[in-house]
Amino acid sequence: MSQLDKQKVVESVPQRGFFGHPKGLFTLFFTEFWERFSYYGMRAILLFYMYYEVSKGGLGLPENLALAIMSIYGSLVYMSGIIGGWLADRVFGTSKAVFYGGVFIMLGHIVLAIPGNVPLFFTSMVLIVLGTGLLKPNVSCVVGDLYSEADNRRDAGFSIFYMGINLGGLISPLIVGTVGTEVDFHLGFSLAAIGMFIGLLTFLLTRKKNLGLAGTYPLNPLNATEKKRLSIMFTAAAIIIALFVAFGLYTNVLTLPVFIGLIGILGFVIPTIYFVVMYRSNKTSPKEKSRILAYIPLFLAAVMFWAIQEQGSTILASYADKRTELSIAGFTLSPALFQSLNPLFVILLAPVFAWLWVKLGAKQPSIPRKFSFGLLFAGLSFLVMLVPAYLSGGTGLVSPLWLVLSYFIVVLGELCLSPVGLSATTKLAPAAFSAQTMSLWFLSNAAGQAVNAQIVQFYRVETEVVYFGVIGGLAIVLGIILYLLTPFIRKFMQGVH
Ligand code: PHE
Repeated sequence: MSQLDKQKVVESVPQRGFFGHPKGLFTLFFTEFWERFSYYGMRAILLFYMYYEVSKGGLGLPENLALAIMSIYGSLVYMSGIIGGWLADRVFGTSKAVFYGGVFIMLGHIVLAIPGNVPLFFTSMVLIVLGTGLLKPNVSCVVGDLYSEADNRRDAGFSIFYMGINLGGLISPLIVGTVGTEVDFHLGFSLAAIGMFIGLLTFLLTRKKNLGLAGTYPLNPLNATEKKRLSIMFTAAAIIIALFVAFGLYTNVLTLPVFIGLIGILGFVIPTIYFVVMYRSNKTSPKEKSRILAYIPLFLAAVMFWAIQEQGSTILASYADKRTELSIAGFTLSPALFQSLNPLFVILLAPVFAWLWVKLGAKQPSIPRKFSFGLLFAGLSFLVMLVPAYLSGGTGLVSPLWLVLSYFIVVLGELCLSPVGLSATTKLAPAAFSAQTMSLWFLSNAAGQAVNAQIVQFYRVETEVVYFGVIGGLAIVLGIILYLLTPFIRKFMQGVH
């Protein structure tokens, strides 16, 4: 988008009306709030739905398979952001992408609400993967479009938006989670569908008034010849993939373990292609090339961080269900409730961290140092789980406070890494690729969960000491290496702070 167009978009957005921020932030805040409500509500019960016995309303899948599916699912949800970003950029603009995305997501939850079987579950997964790929990166992108380049409310705007994400994640396990595990899984999934419906309604009813021109047209639309060429290429690719899948399923070559392996490979191949294309492009200046090199270790650190953080909804969720004392003073807690802890601590601690960085001013740690702290805390959040393993003699139920502590520690890391990560991505990516930086950051999470798809299968109660010990230890070692490499990385960052 040219400078002039950007100016026109900003002028079309009412610049006040939501806590001193542009009115459009209201629309984006609540759209994303309800989308996250539906996503995290669904995730809070999905694992249990998959591995609970059929007599308890579940699908009765083996637990390790269910854990791997959760990770593949999570990985694909953020990988598909590259398709959603591309479609918005080149075909229909972010606003339509958000709308279609919301419709797909809602349909996905409706499919899950139908009492059913494994094929219905996979249909819903495809809908939610495509829908989230269309909605999530684009709704975040529009936040940036509401402010002019010089507007110093922009960072605060993103912080408010991050609160919306976490408020949705905080309340949904309480509602969808409790209803899903205590009453009926499908009723829980229906509540997720209703949440996304409210989000869509908010978006539709307020976008004209609040968002002005933001997101209404593609920034870099395809021209007629490109359109023709690409539609032929897409159709051909779709046919080839469909044939491969059909052939793979028919000959039994495409089994679940093969699919898990493929996701693991894609998780790293896609970001590698991104880096190579950005590095080799003649639109990238030498200074920007150096910044790309600096970004690589940060990206890898983020992958390790998200791998641990995202296990909060897989391994630690199973731990809540199977290893934790849930009956307290006559009450029985739903294991899904633990999923509220991460967003709760993010909401409580984000202002503390914001205050800390402002107070430290120029003395605050550099970006790579903050990333290294992120890894250290992530590692510690796993190592702390060795204590209850030891105290319980390996199999007895443990106090829920151990999980609370672990979720708390990982959030200390998240607040060192996640808010800085997005802004570091926008600062370190070459200008010609700035539209895709949101996707690149999402890919760090996708790769982390692609790694998880491989490793969660090794988790058993009997192996938990080795599991938490090795993964936690590795994160700490990587954190220390990153800490030591910081001066070198900063040289490559060419003045970015
Ligand atoms: N809690 C974060 C969110 O929902 C997880 C995330 C991190 C997703 C990074 C994408 C990229 O937004």
